[in-house]
Amino acid sequence: MKGVLLAGGKGTRLRPITHTGPKQLVPVANKPVIQYAIEDLKAAGITDIGVVLGNKGREAIRNYLGDGADFGVDITYIVQGDPLGLAHAVGCAREFVAGDDFVVYLGDNMLKQGISALVESFERGQYDAGIALQSVAEPEQFGVADVDGNGDVTRLVEKPDEPPSDLALIGVYVFSPVVFDAIERLEPSWRDEYEITEAIGTLLDEGRAIDSLVIEGWWKDTGKPADVLEANRLVLDDRRDETPPIDIESDAETTGYLDVHDAATIEEGAVVRGPVSIGADTTIEAGAYVGPYTSIGPNSTLRNVHIENSVIVGDSSIATDGKIVDSLIGRGTSIGSADGLLPEGRRLVVGENSNLDL
Ligand code: DAU
Repeated sequence: MKGVLLAGGKGTRLRPITHTGPKQLVPVANKPVIQYAIEDLKAAGITDIGVVLGNKGREAIRNYLGDGADFGVDITYIVQGDPLGLAHAVGCAREFVAGDDFVVYLGDNMLKQGISALVESFERGQYDAGIALQSVAEPEQFGVADVDGNGDVTRLVEKPDEPPSDLALIGVYVFSPVVFDAIERLEPSWRDEYEITEAIGTLLDEGRAIDSLVIEGWWKDTGKPADVLEANRLVLDDRRDETPPIDIESDAETTGYLDVHDAATIEEGAVVRGPVSIGADTTIEAGAYVGPYTSIGPNSTLRNVHIENSVIVGDSSIATDGKIVDSLIGRGTSIGSADGLLPEGRRLVVGENSNLDL
C-alpha cells in the first residue's frame, strides 16, 4: 500500500495567510497540518509516500518535508502544476503508484483517529475504493454520499445544492489502481475541476465494490481560518490530560497543559492557562496573558496582550493592551498599541508581514 498526499490547490479560502505560503504548512498546535497526515500514514504502516505539489509553495513544502527521513517515511515528489481538481492530482500519481493499492490523503485534512481503520477495512475485502464519511451540519460544502439501509453507498455528489444526506466525504480515500481508468474518462465538473467524487461515482456505476466507513472521532478540513482555529482547539483539547513535555522553570502563573518549547521563555508576572502550545525562542513577557486554546509559533514576543483561542504562526511581535480572541495571525506580524482606544475583543485574520495598531 502506498500513500498519495495532495498538497497543491489554490488555498484561496485561507487568504491572506496563503498569499506567501501553502495552506498545508499552516501550523496547528505548532505543527504544520500536512505533518499530521504524514504521521497518520506512517501509523497505518504506509511509508512510501508521493506528495503531489501544485505551483504555489512547492519549495516551502519540499524544504519542510525533505526526503521524509525526519518523519520516518520515504517521500517522492510529483508535480501537478495548475490545480485542475483532486482527480487530476491523483491521476498525476499513476506512475508513482505503479499498480499498487494506495491511500489518498488531502493535505489540509485532519482526523483524530487516523486512517488505520479505513485501510484495514479496505484490505479485508475485495474493494476498488474505500471512503470515509462523517455526519456534518453543512453537507453542501462537501462531497456527499447517499447510503442505503444496509450502509452501502448508492450515490455520490460533489457540493450539492440539495444534499441527499448529511454524510460528507472526508478527505481520505483508499483505491485500487482501477481508479486511474475512471479518472481518465472524467469531464470537468460545473466548477471546472476533475472531481475525485465523480471518479468514485463512475466505479459505483460500473458495479465495483466500494467500502465506506463512518468516522466517529473529529475530522477537520482546515480550508478556512475558523477551521484552523477549530483544529487547533481540538488538538490541544485532546492533550489536556497529558503530562506536559517539559517542566517549566518559571515563576509565572501557569496552569493546565502547556506544550512549551524548552527554548521559550515565560517571564515572571506572565499568566499562561493551558491548553496552549508555545514555540522555540518565543517570550511571554510579564503582564501578558495567554489563555486556553492558543498556539504561538517560534521567534515571537508577547507584551501586555491578553490572547485566547488563537493561532500565531510565528516571527511576530504582539505588544498591545488589547484583547485578542479567535484570531489567526500570519508570520512576521507586528501588532502595537494606539492611544485613546479601549478595544474589546477583536476578531482578526491577518496576513504575513502585516502591521497593526490596536
Ligand atoms: O475536505 C473534504 C472535501 O475535500 C470533500 O468532501 C470533497 O468531496 C472534496 O472534493 C474536497 O473538497 P474541497 O473543495 O475542500 O477540496 P480542496 O480544493 O480544498 O482541495 C483539497 C486538498 O487537495 C488541498 O490540500 C489542496 C489539494 N489539491 C486540490 C486541488 C483542487 C490539489 O493538490 N490539487 C488540486 O487540483
